[in-house]
Amino acid sequence: MAQDGGFDLVVVANRLPVDIELTDDGSINWKRSPGGLVTALEPVMQAADGAWVGWSGGPDFEVPPFEGDGMHLVPVTLSAEEIEKYYEGFSNDTLWPLYHDVIAPPAYHRQWWDAYRRVNQRFADAAAAQAAQGAVVWVHDYQLQLVPKMLREQRPDLRIGFFDHIPFPPLELFQQLPWRAQVLEGLLGADLIGFQRAGDASNFIRAVRRLTDRPTRGPIITMPDADGRPGRHVRAASFPISIDSAHFDELARTPEVQARAKEIRADLGDPEVVMLGVDRLDYTKGIRHRIKAYGEILQDGRIDVQGATLIQVASPSRENVGAYQELREHVEGLVGRINGEYGEIGHSAIHYLHHSYPPEEMAALYLAADVMLVTSLRDGMNLVAKEYVAARSDDRGVLVLSEFTGAADELAPGALLVNPHNIDGMKDTIVAAANMDEREQRRRMRKLRKRVLADDVTKWSDSFLGVLTAMPSRQDHV
Ligand code: G6P
Repeated sequence: MAQDGGFDLVVVANRLPVDIELTDDGSINWKRSPGGLVTALEPVMQAADGAWVGWSGGPDFEVPPFEGDGMHLVPVTLSAEEIEKYYEGFSNDTLWPLYHDVIAPPAYHRQWWDAYRRVNQRFADAAAAQAAQGAVVWVHDYQLQLVPKMLREQRPDLRIGFFDHIPFPPLELFQQLPWRAQVLEGLLGADLIGFQRAGDASNFIRAVRRLTDRPTRGPIITMPDADGRPGRHVRAASFPISIDSAHFDELARTPEVQARAKEIRADLGDPEVVMLGVDRLDYTKGIRHRIKAYGEILQDGRIDVQGATLIQVASPSRENVGAYQELREHVEGLVGRINGEYGEIGHSAIHYLHHSYPPEEMAALYLAADVMLVTSLRDGMNLVAKEYVAARSDDRGVLVLSEFTGAADELAPGALLVNPHNIDGMKDTIVAAANMDEREQRRRMRKLRKRVLADDVTKWSDSFLGVLTAMPSRQDHV
């Protein structure tokens, strides 16, 4: 905390790292929030003396700032209507599908946009109240794209960074958005805008060039000053996110986790090949494509159902949004059909788990799995792929990884890449993964581990914050 009582580093994200839960007796419980953003940012913030501004996960909870998990947490209140229009609506039924290649059709509603603006203003106000003079404020993800500009209007003394955890779409898709100009202007309130992949940063620059009159030169955009003359610069660049690799590696080496991994395999009947999928139950993750491919492999007799099992962890997500409800029905129908067809007493073809699990259980699952299936149709990064690698200090296991993940840019050398739309191609790759000899597994896993252990989340945040703080400050422009 700085002398003026504010914080030198303020993180602003839609969710706090903990989610509020009301117990049956009316008391309040906190539980870890879902998703890759929290997985990545939590260790960064635990190590820094900063504040985290975010929503508590429930409607109308007025909770004062509190210390939790080694962090100063500042809850932002959302009403039930705002959750519906800003979170479920504009964030997750407009922006999420639009930014993920319109896998589901985005809906455009003016009332949702109004709520998005209103809630973004509330987050900006809360961040402005926490930040010390000259502080760094780091805004995260698609739910809060208007915050950088709103914050700069109140606090021109701040250095403002923005990181987009999901893909930034090609211009041809982005231009569908009726409020595209406002979203670009919102983001351009930042000094530094970070993306997962170089391709996302160039999509953004292209949108700025085509949809605004801001001059650009390579990754730099020039904003006008109050008199309309060239003023401050904004930089857009890629900073691929990661996990706390060493921590996950250590966790997976503990005797408890190792024993639990053995127990999982034993409970499954010690099959020759255990395959694993771990996702939020989201249509971007390619869960249906994966399960379809697996079902056909069993049907073709290329893998014997007696000797193999697929565990699919599908953690509940955004359950009030129609596209997610439809997906759940489809996935569960498909799992039921395949289990009905190929399962036997005491042996299911697919173990489908609609739950989320703590990191210890995840590490044990990763260790128990011979083949990890990450088959997203589009994914900003995919941290599950990195967690799997970090857990495998035995240098065993095969990562099957979609070309459409940010992780593929980094992990291509050791993973088996697939195009999940090509079911036949994916089937061949899954069979090859299941039959890969130990030597080849080790050769690939070593490459993967070198990369994941070196490029961890601290390196990611240090490099983002390093570039941000090295940029000329406001005073340098005056
Ligand atoms: C992704 C997004 C995050 C989001 C998470 C969980 O990782 O990038 O911003 O928090 O999914 O989704 P939810 O809607 O439950 O916050």
